[in-house]
Amino acid sequence: MVTSSHSHLWFLLLLCCSPAHYSFAQSSLESKDDVRRSDFPDSFFFGTATSSYQVEGAYLEDGKSLSNWDVFNHRQDTNGENGDIADDHYHRYLEDIEMMDSLGVNAYRFSISWARILPKGRFGRVNPTGVLFYNKIIDNLLLKGIQPFVTICHHDFPQELEDRFGSWLSPQMQEDFVHFAETCFKSFGDRVKYWITINEPNLFADMAYIRGRYPPAHCSQPFGNCSVGNSDVEPLIVLHNMLLAHAKATRLYRDHFQAEQGGVIGIVVNSFMFEPLTDSELDREAANRTLAFNVAWALDPLVFGDYPPEMRHYLGNDLPSFSPEERKIIKGSTDFFGLNHYSTLYAKDCRYSKCIPGWDRPIRGFAYTTEERDGVPIGDRTGMVKFFVVPAGMEKIINYLKERYHNEKPLYVLENGYSPPREQNVQVQDLLNDVKRIEYHTAYLSHLAKAIRNGADVRGYFVWSLMDNYEWAEGYGPMFGLHYVDRQTLERTPKLSALWFKSFLNNNGSSFRKKNVIASASGLKADQQVQL
Ligand code: BGC
Repeated sequence: MVTSSHSHLWFLLLLCCSPAHYSFAQSSLESKDDVRRSDFPDSFFFGTATSSYQVEGAYLEDGKSLSNWDVFNHRQDTNGENGDIADDHYHRYLEDIEMMDSLGVNAYRFSISWARILPKGRFGRVNPTGVLFYNKIIDNLLLKGIQPFVTICHHDFPQELEDRFGSWLSPQMQEDFVHFAETCFKSFGDRVKYWITINEPNLFADMAYIRGRYPPAHCSQPFGNCSVGNSDVEPLIVLHNMLLAHAKATRLYRDHFQAEQGGVIGIVVNSFMFEPLTDSELDREAANRTLAFNVAWALDPLVFGDYPPEMRHYLGNDLPSFSPEERKIIKGSTDFFGLNHYSTLYAKDCRYSKCIPGWDRPIRGFAYTTEERDGVPIGDRTGMVKFFVVPAGMEKIINYLKERYHNEKPLYVLENGYSPPREQNVQVQDLLNDVKRIEYHTAYLSHLAKAIRNGADVRGYFVWSLMDNYEWAEGYGPMFGLHYVDRQTLERTPKLSALWFKSFLNNNGSSFRKKNVIASASGLKADQQVQL
């Protein structure tokens, strides 16, 4: 077990030991991906990110009700893992804010637990203790000069709304969301200047209503084995309701709060980059279609007032329509784009070639996505099955958005992060000595800097995540944190990447890597007998 004083000793050793003690392994990323804080504008936000269900715990404390995830995990739990305690951030938020302060970040992205603020949605009252909790977080962040970026809904909501009307499948959820958003603007908007309405509606619709892996676990064959659902149609309805909920909350903010509170409001989508599997015209079209069916699906309506023409072409009447009134509300309904980007996959045509069942359906745009070309993975593997290390994808997805939306909206990278491949009997020291994570961030940041140099209006970058946490359907297996969290004691320990990030923010990114990362990559293994 890693104790705090021991872990600090470990880092002192790491930082003080002369690199000469170790043989130097040349990191492949050292020269080509050097990147410094000064490569980004002074006003740029560098932060870390979390979300309520993934870190808070305290799942039934102080008036909070059961959320969709609480109920889902208690019913069909993932290896007995759930967010009942998670990182106990509810009780340890002050320590966590200290950690951020020590990193030197100027922003923090977190989400508000809907079930903590409105345990019964719009069918009940505001829970003052819930409001107090987020007030304490916001006030303490501001005291440290850390800008709060607040996600209103990050996958979790009161189970009451699922039970009453089927949550996002029903237009009633739009009303509930607007009520929740209004409660947030009223309670926190005097201090919160960056609002993100909904986290990754596109990924949520897919995971919960195509694959059935997130609550309420709806799907149909051949996409998965669920007791209810229709994978071909439901995700389209769900995303439609989410986009309208976003647009209506944005209108409310603009009409009643923005002038006085002086903030901005946007949305964040999940976006992989997609490369054609082969050089054929068909695969190139498949890659473009996949981008349209994944990313533009959620963003085109907010910019142009309707879904991508490609989607309308293939989905016909299964794709919902916006009424003229709705079109007015939705068009232009975002002040910025949020982008969560981790990885790139290949796309292959399924219109003319045979594909695995499911991918050859309209809902997937008749395109199959895969991580391998001729048996070779697209990048290094990580702890997530579909996440591979492809740093150039960051630049490409930003250029895609820049071109499709004419660079008219500022963009924030609200999540980017790495979890190491999961190994049996992994030693804590190996997790702490996370050289691969440093290489990942350095390389992705370097491509981000290039996109900015080429004119993309990107204004912030958030590391997912501040600390290891509950990774939805994957439980606690994937570890994305800059800080290690001991699952027994819940003690936080900075990983090497936390020290790198701190050094990077002091504009010493490359020299830190030269002095410590390379030394530790090669030498520390031998030295891991150092007792912690
Ligand atoms: C989500 C996070 C998640 C991360 C890593 C994003 O899709 O917003 O909640 O932990 O990816 O998988």
